[in-house]
Amino acid sequence: MKCLVLLLLLAGCDGWPESPKPPPPAPPPEGSVPRGAAAQARVLAPPGPPVDAALLAEGAERYGIYCTPCHGARGLGDGVVVSRGHPPIAPLPADPARSMAAIAENRLGAHPLSDRLDPRQRWAVARHVEALMRGAP
Ligand code: HEC
Repeated sequence: MKCLVLLLLLAGCDGWPESPKPPPPAPPPEGSVPRGAAAQARVLAPPGPPVDAALLAEGAERYGIYCTPCHGARGLGDGVVVSRGHPPIAPLPADPARSMAAIAENRLGAHPLSDRLDPRQRWAVARHVEALMRGAP
């Protein structure tokens, strides 16, 4: 019954009164992750975010979580999996482009990492590996 009354009331309505225009969309908040293929491609394109202490620290932290089991803390391929029977792993290349590609492409099935690391984190890891393999402190 209540529904019927509501329906009759709505039927008598001839549209909403003119509503104010919505405000223009706000710019994305700092640190937000871009969505959509084009936006992703943009943030993944070289040279990536500026290399500073914060980026390198973030990279070292993510590397410790996602890469050390196989590549080892020094990137020499002496991670714990090798001591447990994984075939030897070559030392990491210093080239950040190769790290970015290896994270994106799930090379040899060993890298299902693209959904664990957002674009900034991927660059952070790639820059950490670059510094590590160039012998920077
Ligand atoms: C489950 C083990 C495993 C994990 C975890 C892992 N990798 Fe690898 N990665 C490998 C293996 C195996 C290879 C092939 C090495 C070889 O050819 O000797 C490889 C190769 C690479 C290469 C070389 C690609 C090239 O161009 O030749 C890079 C760079 C790399 N990994 C980066 C990373 C980074 C960065 C992470 C962490 C975000 C990571 N890997 C995590 C196993 C792993």
